[in-house]
Amino acid sequence: MAQMTENEIKDIVAKVLGQMQSMKPASADWDSTQYGGRKFIGIYEDMNEAIEAANRGYKAVRAMSVEEREKIITEIRKLTREEAATMAALGVAETKMGRVEHKRLKHLLVADKTPGTEDIVSTAKTGDNGLTLIEMAPFGVVGAITPSTNPSETVICNSIGMIAAGNGVVFNPHPGAIATSNYAVDLVNRACRAAGGPDVLVCSMKKPTMESAAIMQSHPLIKLLVCTGGPGVVKAVLSSGKKAIGAGAGNPPVIVDDTADIQKAAKDIIDGCTFDNNLPCIAEKEVFSFDNITDELIAGMKRAGSYQITRAQADELAKIVLVEKTKKDGTTVKTVNRDCVGRDADVLLSKIGVSVGKDVRCIIAEVPFEHPFVQEELMMPILGIVRVKDIDEAIDLACKAEAGRRHSAHMHSKNIDNLSRFAKAVETTIFVKNAPSYAGIGFGGEGHTTFTIAGPTGEGITSARSFTRQRRCVMADSFRII
Ligand code: COA
Repeated sequence: MAQMTENEIKDIVAKVLGQMQSMKPASADWDSTQYGGRKFIGIYEDMNEAIEAANRGYKAVRAMSVEEREKIITEIRKLTREEAATMAALGVAETKMGRVEHKRLKHLLVADKTPGTEDIVSTAKTGDNGLTLIEMAPFGVVGAITPSTNPSETVICNSIGMIAAGNGVVFNPHPGAIATSNYAVDLVNRACRAAGGPDVLVCSMKKPTMESAAIMQSHPLIKLLVCTGGPGVVKAVLSSGKKAIGAGAGNPPVIVDDTADIQKAAKDIIDGCTFDNNLPCIAEKEVFSFDNITDELIAGMKRAGSYQITRAQADELAKIVLVEKTKKDGTTVKTVNRDCVGRDADVLLSKIGVSVGKDVRCIIAEVPFEHPFVQEELMMPILGIVRVKDIDEAIDLACKAEAGRRHSAHMHSKNIDNLSRFAKAVETTIFVKNAPSYAGIGFGGEGHTTFTIAGPTGEGITSARSFTRQRRCVMADSFRII
């Protein structure tokens, strides 16, 4: 994928910021219903109305052929490519998280590598008793919850898969990224209209809340719930009593043993860890490296754009990036500081009085296993490095840091036994060997992409077929040709 230059990025950011003036970016409440005066299609104040509209869209799509459905998807891909930079700039401006160029690349990835209708495969069984046909049918209207970390990427990726499967969709996006998410909802509806589909096929809320999410979860027209987000929202949909696909948080460890190409490992880890400032849930969050190669690995990471801080500085930074939050029931929990999530490395370093340039993209620190840089999923370009004596200790600690989330884990090694042992022990949905983590979602690795990685419910790297229900038609004693 062609990279944009710094000046091109600056131009698009300036253009988007100009258009955003009409969305009142200075106020707490964004106008999530228009961009630059263009009114968004499919945005509702009332969740029940949104569901009814998506249901009408679903019924219209049911009457369309698969070929016609694929035309809608082709148009979504086209508009996503054309407007990738705009959505990237909008996402960073609204959420203050991530990097414009990386978000643009994520949109291109979604446009190019999210499977369409070809993912829906019918099967047939024949035998002495005739023919049985198994087809993958739509659920109807899908209720989808999307995160603030990958907002428009998830809306578009979900839409392509869910529409390919023949569904309508209602989104209840994270309120912190509502303008960006609704931009993507509008894009999908514009694509749908341009391809001859219904006027509205995917819907969203003007102001999503947990209450509107609750209405969505209990509405009889919603047959499938898909949640991509933090543990709270995932838990809510999984306890809804409906069929639900849950894609939650991870804390991906990476092991480097002494057979690895250390320089390549160093660069790959920093490339993966800093992609969109560590917002993707697959991104490297902590490293376990063999003692005898750790110095060389750290030197390579510094060459790849990292700044090493001392243990004392790591402790000081940990107190800033993690804060106590008081929950509604009065209890307190330690949580990531929202003002630090997805921020550039130089911004985070400035919080402990360290001044570096923009070419520093990652903060690294040697820390013990118990340190928050290892235990907490920070979603910031900060990497804790733990020295280990051998593969047994590496696997044991990496599995403990992953903590049974079964999300993603990575390893750099040329020892097949070590690679196999870690992969078996950690049981993650994604396991990347000798590459940056993003190879696991099709960016520089084989396979399709998604931002909804459903570990807890087992669908894995979701695609159109994940959003279908199986139906069987039996023709007894007939319709065979042999
Ligand atoms: N619809 C409605 N409300 C939502 C929502 C949704 N889709 N998602 C979150 N909310 C609510 C939360 O319940 C919370 O409400 P509360 O303040 O009453 O508790 C509020 O919006 C703020 O959300 P929250 O995400 O907790 O806080 P934040 O915006 O300050 O934090 C992150 C942003 C990124 C730090 C946080 O979302 C997070 O830790 N996410 C986990 C990682 C993740 O999302 N991964 C994506 C998987 S791919």
